[in-house]
Amino acid sequence: MATDRRPEYFKGSQLRVGIIGCGYVGLPLGLRFAEAGHRVTGFDLDPAKVEKLNRGQSYIQHIPQNKIQQFVLSKHFGATADFSRLAEMDAILICVPTPLDQRREPDLSYVEKTAQAIRPYLQRGQLVVLESTTYPGTTEELLLPILEETGMKCPIAHGPENEQIGTDFFLAFSPEREDPGNKQYGLAQIPKVVGGVNPPSGRAAASLYAQIVGRVVPVSSTRTAEMTKLLENIFRCVNIALVNELKMLCQRMGIDIWEVIDAAATKPFGFMPFYPGPGLGGHCIPVDPYYLSWKAREFDFATRFIELAGEVNTAMPYHVVEKSIKGSRILVLGVAYKKDVDDLRESPSLKIIELLTARGANIDYNDPHFAEIPKLRHYNFQGMKSVPVDSKSLAGYDCVLIATDHTAYDYSAIVESAQLVVDTRNATRRISRNRNKIVLV
Ligand SMILES: NC(=O)c1ccc[n+]([C@@H]2O[C@H](COP(=O)([O-])OP(=O)(O)OC[C@H]3O[C@@H](n4cnc5c(N)ncnc54)[C@H](O)[C@@H]3O)[C@@H](O)[C@H]2O)c1
Repeated sequence: MATDRRPEYFKGSQLRVGIIGCGYVGLPLGLRFAEAGHRVTGFDLDPAKVEKLNRGQSYIQHIPQNKIQQFVLSKHFGATADFSRLAEMDAILICVPTPLDQRREPDLSYVEKTAQAIRPYLQRGQLVVLESTTYPGTTEELLLPILEETGMKCPIAHGPENEQIGTDFFLAFSPEREDPGNKQYGLAQIPKVVGGVNPPSGRAAASLYAQIVGRVVPVSSTRTAEMTKLLENIFRCVNIALVNELKMLCQRMGIDIWEVIDAAATKPFGFMPFYPGPGLGGHCIPVDPYYLSWKAREFDFATRFIELAGEVNTAMPYHVVEKSIKGSRILVLGVAYKKDVDDLRESPSLKIIELLTARGANIDYNDPHFAEIPKLRHYNFQGMKSVPVDSKSLAGYDCVLIATDHTAYDYSAIVESAQLVVDTRNATRRISRNRNKIVLV
């Protein structure tokens, strides 16, 4: 077994980077490599996405069309469904979904299929990196054996004595920390954690990402890198559950939880504010912790914080609904899972609409990012259309429920016109007039 190319080879040259899965994670990542001067090919099973990308069109709201156009025209970016072209790549980055299945257990079928798709085209000296969020062990236990069926080897080895170990290809894990819609921290500003199956793999991945981010953080193994991402998301999930529970207590005690959090956040050390809401949304926080609790069972270990946080956060939409059915016509503002994004996945707004409807309320919704609700796996709201929001229409509802605090809303005008505002996000925090109309839940 010989190392064909030293892992440091990524420094300084123009690379051919393949991104498998051109979604919320893969597309911005690919564009960042293109921006850094590399030649990027996006691989996706969805022919509509491939076609759109090659026409220079965007299907993700916060990714500007002109950016894609620019790199397509300069031949720094193109998309394909032809996986044989993986053979041309120096590095292959896997950004496919890692959802939960019906039993809320990890569904790694996308990662597995991707590994099988790479296998026939894997080349000596190629670097493969998994970016999808998953439990510790996935890269070594699932990806590596499939890639080694080629006959090429990438030995699991750690520590200084293995610095120069021979490897036929390089394999690493590097979690994605993309925060869609975050204008302060773009990809280039977010440090990238990288762990290799062996030291040369770690170095190869580190030198690749050094091309596109300001700081690379090497860790000792793929398991460490996998666990790092889960710690970050579990930290958020548990802290959000904590403030959600305290919110309900504060309501009983007649205390404004948001005022409490703002006051606590003035402490210059040892406190980080988290805010209550109508429930958890997005693809990461409601899903990823269960990857770890599932894996923990293999070690006879119960992850109690994760389970408890899940219980509290899952109860939040029910709590909001209890507080909201004051009348029968309700306008839900915001169906996206968080503000200013065009992403509906796991959105608590959908659960709230379902619960309110089941209790006999007549629901309309408005969302500047969704003119209508598309077909969804767990809900049947297809065809429901966003209604216009103006002073006359607002006045016609018994209750306006702020589920997602999009920046586009004029909260002062909403409170002015609405009869009653149920605010799950403290979006009306700066409104001083008509506060008697606002119920914070
Ligand atoms: N969205 C986020 O904010 C975020 C943040 C950090 C990490 N992640 C993680 O990144 C991973 C990807 O998430 P996402 O939000 O980009 O998902 P996504 O659904 O937006 O995109 C996934 C893409 O992969 C494609 N795809 C599916 N199977 C494929 C296959 N076998 N071959 C090629 N393409 C395939 C799909 O067509 C889709 O375009 C997940 O593991 C997720 O947990 C997401």
